[in-house]
Amino acid sequence: MTLSPDRTTWTPGTDDEATVRRSDRAHVFHSWSAQGRIDPMPIARARGSHFWDYAGTRYLDFSSQLVNVNIGYQHPVLVEAIKAQAEQLLTVAPGFANDARSEAARLIAEVAPEHLNKVFFTNGGAEANENAVRMARLHTGRHKVLAAYRSYHGATAGAIALTGDPRRWPSEPGMPGVVRYWGPYPYRSAFFARDEQEECARALAHLRDVLMVEGAHTVAAIVLETVVGTNGILVPPDGYLAGVRALCDEHGILLIADEVMSGFGRCGEWFAVDRWGVAPDLITFAKGVNSGYVPLGGVLISDAVAATFDDRPYPGGLTYSGHPLACASAVASINVMRAEGIIDSARALGADVIGPELRALAERHPSVGDVRGLGVFWALELVRDRSTREPLVPYNAGGPDAAPMTELVAACKARGLWPFAHFNRLHVVPPCTTTADEIREGIAVLDEVLTLADRHVTG
Ligand SMILES: Cc1ncc(COP(=O)(O)O)c(C=O)c1O
Repeated sequence: MTLSPDRTTWTPGTDDEATVRRSDRAHVFHSWSAQGRIDPMPIARARGSHFWDYAGTRYLDFSSQLVNVNIGYQHPVLVEAIKAQAEQLLTVAPGFANDARSEAARLIAEVAPEHLNKVFFTNGGAEANENAVRMARLHTGRHKVLAAYRSYHGATAGAIALTGDPRRWPSEPGMPGVVRYWGPYPYRSAFFARDEQEECARALAHLRDVLMVEGAHTVAAIVLETVVGTNGILVPPDGYLAGVRALCDEHGILLIADEVMSGFGRCGEWFAVDRWGVAPDLITFAKGVNSGYVPLGGVLISDAVAATFDDRPYPGGLTYSGHPLACASAVASINVMRAEGIIDSARALGADVIGPELRALAERHPSVGDVRGLGVFWALELVRDRSTREPLVPYNAGGPDAAPMTELVAACKARGLWPFAHFNRLHVVPPCTTTADEIREGIAVLDEVLTLADRHVTG
């Protein structure tokens, strides 16, 4: 079926809403969805922290799309940089050298921990994790990889096998060699810990036990999201990352930090590991590196791992590795982040505005069981009973079981706030450039809609 066989030209932004919807429903196959049960909303335009539908309704984006639009929509410097690169050179194979790619790699290495000096570019986060695991296996000559239950690492074959959350289930059996462990989560401790310090000590003891029974000498890498993203904004207790680093060093295991969501300003640092001064062997990144303006991800590689491939070919590649358009946008984005002080202001926004405002919400709403986060990376965990911590909806709930969350999401949208909801949580993850007033405006909407969640409180 072709919509308009006679249509030979097309200009962005000129189709009406009905045309967009019709072609979408007829031809676009969407991610993670039962195709017959969705009705994707056409977006007409976006700027800063807002986007608009075709009817002119404006939404304040508390999701940054998929937590990637860190510098906000349509930043004029990036738009110009992308146009300039398009004029200059649109594509070149990875085997050539290219100025946009060289400069992007140089800048990314400059903002990374000291001994990470090389970048392997990918098209996104999943491919970055696939390649990090490949590098770790070849560097160590070992096969196993430890990954956390509460995690998401991407949807390609290896990355979905690393993923701990239910998105993995339909793709099982997956890549062999993945072993799972529990990371720290003080609010729902797998270790019956009573405070953060105990959680930290017990999570590390558990990891040590897993290594013992798996045979530490068979383990190539421990993979973790520095701050767990979609699975709960789980900020590790102080000392945890250093403890994992020490375990890795003790056993010759590589530490892979997945900073696809937590990097490039989201946690008020270039990389979340900077907050704890821990240096991984490999860092995977995507999303915030260029706010998703053009698909881009990559692996930051330590000098020691890079040296493994000095005389031995690296057996991996992608046609679009280091695509000039994507790299030019990353260069512009990092320069903008520096020029506008976005890292520092993201840290301050969390400490001075988002954190205090969300804690004040918790005082007013009995359905808020926990508030946690840092930078522009926060979660409200919603419960039916604060003392038992029974979640507002069950783990991985769908359909009628998820109704209290579905209701909240609809109420936010009806008030012009685009939320990020996962299981029994609302995440507050707007662009890092959102103003304090815009944050307060969005949180005022949350204040209103949480009365709906409060009605389900039983304890
Ligand atoms: C922590 C983390 N790793 C990896 C990915 C996968 O990235 P992509 O969707 O670009 O493949 C995501 C995506 O949400 C993520 O949050």
